[in-house]
Amino acid sequence: SPVLLPRPSLSLHPSQGVSLGDTVTLCCHMPRMAAWVELHQDGLLRSYKDMDKHQVVAEFSLVCVKLEDAMKYWCQYRVLEPLWVSEKSVPIELVVTDHPYSPPNISISHEQIVEVGTNVTIQCCSQGYGGIIFLHKDGHSAPLHHRDPRGGGTASFTLFGVTPADSGTYRCSYHPKASLFVSSPLGDSVTLEVTPTPAPPGAELVSRGNLVVAVVRGCAAAVIFGLGVFFVIDARSLYGALWGSVGLYGALWGAMGF
Ligand SMILES: *[C@@H]1O[C@H](CO)[C@@H](O)[C@H](O)[C@H]1NC(C)=O
Repeated sequence: SPVLLPRPSLSLHPSQGVSLGDTVTLCCHMPRMAAWVELHQDGLLRSYKDMDKHQVVAEFSLVCVKLEDAMKYWCQYRVLEPLWVSEKSVPIELVVTDHPYSPPNISISHEQIVEVGTNVTIQCCSQGYGGIIFLHKDGHSAPLHHRDPRGGGTASFTLFGVTPADSGTYRCSYHPKASLFVSSPLGDSVTLEVTPTPAPPGAELVSRGNLVVAVVRGCAAAVIFGLGVFFVIDARSLYGALWGSVGLYGALWGAMGF
């Protein structure tokens, strides 16, 4: 079997938000110098380059991106002496934004400011184009989540038990069912602000206070119980006094709130 050289890595510039007509560059980064680098598009050789000595990055530019360019790409390199080929890079997807697709609608379940631990749901609707719906957060290069609502056209993204790190601006996009590497534009945004739950003032004092009340009640109950038993033993020959002590015992017990 042929010797396979270590795989190169392929990157895309810009990595997101490529629109029809834009220029994108695919860069194949090699772990060593190579004689020849190939760019494959969905299994077909799309382009190749003779490499100068000392170059370990090959750049392939796609000028004026078309919908047909929205596909999977990978690269591979070859050396001459001996005549060896590398493994394929991990494939990357070129997603192209097609502006005629309507941006998705977005809604959020809670008011803008929520407390830590709340479950917040963001819903996005792909306007009848079906396909896969993506949730993006401003400042993150890759989408946070995606869902395939299977014909429903609406995806719910629940952020369980939010923390202040979930604060930010969220938007959606979708890849229409008809062409999965084509993206709608990003839609309107919703903003989420998570505040740390304010500790109720004096919460600790209140609970200590409750503890003190419980201890006092417990001691008082023991004293009253002892008193009652003493009374019963002392006056057991007197039937009326017995009932009197029971009545006193009950009254005191009731007054303590038990
Ligand atoms: C959040 O959702 C989880 C899972 O459904 C549930 O167990 C939890 O009670 C919810 N929390 C709140 C604050 O609603």
